[in-house]
Amino acid sequence: VPATAQGGPVPAGDDVIVLGEVGALTGGQATFGISSRNGIALALKEANAAGGVRGKKLVVRVYDDQSKPEEAAQAVTRLITQDKVVLILGEVASSSSLAMAEKAQAAGVPMITPSSTNPTVTEKGDNIFRVCFIDPFQGFVMAKFARENLKLNKVAVLQDNKSAYSIGLTEVFRQKFAELGGKITGTESYSQGDTDYRAQLTAIKKTQPEGIYVPGYYSEVGVIARQARELGLKVPLMGGDGWDSEKLFELGGSAIDGSYFSNHYSPDNPDPRVQKFIADYKADNNGAVPDALAALAYDAARVAIDALKRAPDTSGPALRAAIAQTKDFPGVAGVITLDAKRNAVKSAVVLKVADGKTSYVTTIAP
Ligand code: PHE
Repeated sequence: VPATAQGGPVPAGDDVIVLGEVGALTGGQATFGISSRNGIALALKEANAAGGVRGKKLVVRVYDDQSKPEEAAQAVTRLITQDKVVLILGEVASSSSLAMAEKAQAAGVPMITPSSTNPTVTEKGDNIFRVCFIDPFQGFVMAKFARENLKLNKVAVLQDNKSAYSIGLTEVFRQKFAELGGKITGTESYSQGDTDYRAQLTAIKKTQPEGIYVPGYYSEVGVIARQARELGLKVPLMGGDGWDSEKLFELGGSAIDGSYFSNHYSPDNPDPRVQKFIADYKADNNGAVPDALAALAYDAARVAIDALKRAPDTSGPALRAAIAQTKDFPGVAGVITLDAKRNAVKSAVVLKVADGKTSYVTTIAP
């Protein structure tokens, strides 16, 4: 599927079920949308090869939101009013999912975000689901890892104040790190799209931290790593799932070596189910190893397909009820059981960055 896919005309009619997808196929989070696109495409391909669902073929109408929440919200309106989709998959960035959830909930069309971790996303209403863990857990994971594995006593934080995701993670990390007996030496902010972080990093350096928590997205984190090293800040950087992109290595170079981030899945997982997914994904995507976004989007699409099979019909209320009953579903990024708040409760992995790649360090359970 080309990265520029705008959906194009999908064959409508009685013999197809139309799903909607919204993703960042261009802009500052483009690798998120492209990986998700590829994961969803694989899940649909497999379902159609197995005969489709309810005797029909599955098709997906895709919109590129250019990494902008306003565009994501508009795409949802189009998917519902023009394309008449039965269900929506997306987004990755929590700020975009929040904008989408508002519209999907108002229209009564179920939405499953594969990978938005900010807790408020599913709080938008009973039509909004996710197949990943939430940030109160993710923030705890890195605070615990920093204290117990890295044995850090003093840590600074650098947050993206334009991202609901980054603001939420900062809050949780600060609180948990302090609860575990650590000290936060200072918190600085930037805005998504900034390119010069030297003032904030200089302020952080003065507080003499032993590590810096940078819960942002890869496009900014790579540059931050370089500038931190230039300023003589040699301590480890730590982050969350927003770091997960091939581009992190391109942007960060060796400056990002020795850093750690929490994530949803590791391609090093020897589970045959995970390894089969990796092999199938590589075959369809020129040998690219699926990242967490691809794995979670594949899982989200399969949860949607499973609900489509179980529901008495494909109306919003019937589908919503079927998705809510998802239990012990074998995802490639962990087993999925949705709780009463429509969130998945799962373990997180911690990955280390070195020599242009990530390696598995540990798993932390809820
Ligand atoms: N969790 C991030 C958010 O909510 C998105 C993300 C998920 C990014 C997984 C990378 C990998 O904004």
